[in-house]
Amino acid sequence: MSQNAKGPGGPRGPRHGGPGGKPKNAGKTMKRLLSYLSAYKLRLILVFCFVVLNTASSLGGSYMLRPIINTYIFPPDGSPGSVTGLLGALALMAAVYLIGVASTYLQTRMMIGIAQNAMERIRNDLFTHLQKLPIRYYDTHTHGDLMSRFTNDIDRMDECVSNNVVQLFSGVITVSGTLILMISLSPWLTLVTVLMVPVILQVVNFIGRRSRKLFVAQQEVLGTVNGYIEEIVTGQKVVKVFCHEDSVERVFGGHNRELRDKQIRAMFAGGVMGPLMNGMGQITYALVATVGGVLCVLQHFDIGGLTVFLNYSRQFSRPINEISQQMTTIFSALAGAERVFAVIDEAPETDRDDPSLGELSQVRGRVVLDHVTFGYEPDKTILKDICLTAEPGQKIAFVGSTGAGKTTITNLLTRFYDIQSGSISIDGTDIRAVHKDSLRSHIAMVLQDTHLFTGTIMENIRYGRLDATDEEVISAAKTASAHSFIQRLPNGYQTVLEGDGANLSQGQRQLLNIARAAISHAPILILDEATSSVDTRTEKHIEHGMDRLMKNRTTFVIAHRLSTVKNADCIIVLEHGETIERGTHEELLALGGRYYSLYTGKLELD
Ligand SMILES: Nc1ncnc2c1ncn2[C@@H]1O[C@H](COP(=O)(O)OP(=O)(O)OP(=O)(O)O)[C@@H](O)[C@H]1O
Ligand SMILES: [Mg+2]
Repeated sequence: MSQNAKGPGGPRGPRHGGPGGKPKNAGKTMKRLLSYLSAYKLRLILVFCFVVLNTASSLGGSYMLRPIINTYIFPPDGSPGSVTGLLGALALMAAVYLIGVASTYLQTRMMIGIAQNAMERIRNDLFTHLQKLPIRYYDTHTHGDLMSRFTNDIDRMDECVSNNVVQLFSGVITVSGTLILMISLSPWLTLVTVLMVPVILQVVNFIGRRSRKLFVAQQEVLGTVNGYIEEIVTGQKVVKVFCHEDSVERVFGGHNRELRDKQIRAMFAGGVMGPLMNGMGQITYALVATVGGVLCVLQHFDIGGLTVFLNYSRQFSRPINEISQQMTTIFSALAGAERVFAVIDEAPETDRDDPSLGELSQVRGRVVLDHVTFGYEPDKTILKDICLTAEPGQKIAFVGSTGAGKTTITNLLTRFYDIQSGSISIDGTDIRAVHKDSLRSHIAMVLQDTHLFTGTIMENIRYGRLDATDEEVISAAKTASAHSFIQRLPNGYQTVLEGDGANLSQGQRQLLNIARAAISHAPILILDEATSSVDTRTEKHIEHGMDRLMKNRTTFVIAHRLSTVKNADCIIVLEHGETIERGTHEELLALGGRYYSLYTGKLELD
């Protein structure tokens, strides 16, 4: 990690892949995960029946070798063997194995279906819940973090449900079945085999621990490399403009070498496991063969029995290793499940079912902020004692330097955040006394950060009011001065926007956002920096459009360009979350204070 901190982007933690961690409450999480499977109870029972059938056929098939050898190859009375009898018995053995193959096939198919259905439900629950979480949740959880719930964590759960659960079950019954059959064949040889198990487990655990550690280290570096690539690819323009190509290559080279070294070590440790297990298996085999051979010579055992036993002893330790390795995967899946369930358990902000809340109706648009105080964190006040009254149809403008708290006020009107003291009311109703849905349906908003969805321009504008007709969409676009540029696009209103409207200019994206607000009938309108990315001529157009848009609506405008706010009924100058001046354009100019300095450009830079 020595070169981590250099170059654009700097260090990045492991964000992709990475170790799964340990679940805090494995039992509870397991129960919850199983509850997603309970809908498929009958199919699960069938799957387990198939697993039992498969294991039985595999063990039984092997067992059939004993009578085959003892009866048809080396008959006990010393007579020559019987080929027809042998072929018949072998055919029967093949049939038994065939049953095993068929049941494995059915079991795999069914389990995949069950697991994928369960994963679909979990993804659905997670996504639906994300829609209900308050904006505050998104402030404290990064986009990458939430994405990895859907990718890494659900992948792990999927792997666990689709494979590990069945393997675990099959492993347990294979081991128990084999053990019973081995004891019934020869208790002494069983003792030899069983004594080897702790030795094998020791080796498996030792190598497993080491290889897991190396694997975790490798995943961490992989995360850094992936994060670095993602960052540099998305920031290509900045890298090129500041001529950082060489240093970026150097940093990447460093990460890449580190990944190579870690990967060599991790893969070696992982790769050594197989041959080592084989070796241990051979040792057990040789031991059993020796002891068994001696027993046969002493007439305490038969050749057929020994052949079957050797088969069993060879496969006896395999499921034990698998089980011990699978426990790690299962625990990491449970840790992933825990993280997914933690998101699903986050308190939602929906208040649809709260009977104590009412609905806003017949809103005229009188908005009153009464001594409003707020901070994103309780101990850090951002807005202090804000008071204002907006009469229906009035235009209120907020001005002030960056970080003064302008956007924050609009976040409070929509109840993205709740105020700490004071009150906000619309037509005399406290906004905390109505459902958030009802409140938000009365507010149209052009956000400071534009956002467009994948779809046509027509659909993107209609997002503001889903029942709007095509004509209404076009008229909203005209209001927002977006109509003329849309018409010039090859496909006009049917132009498909992708990747947040990457094929449009920033100003054009802004116009579409204004059109989206224009189409809504909401009586309260919030325009945050709505004209920040357009040229002066377009701005004039928009101003005309906005005058139409604002007619009969209470409007809150935030603009850095003071020309946009000149005709407001009241201009509020904010500084560090406090109202320092208020009045109309003329009043504030006459005052000769902060607004005057801002307007005349005489403001000293701080
Ligand atoms: N989600 C948030 N969590 C914590 N603090 C925040 C959050 N959003 C904004 N802030 C802080 O609140 C203060 C006011 O931010 P706000 O976005 O309201 O400023 P603004 O007046 O809109 O600025 P600009 O003109 O740059 O848009 C800033 O100091 C900012 O750091
Ligand atoms: Mg802002």
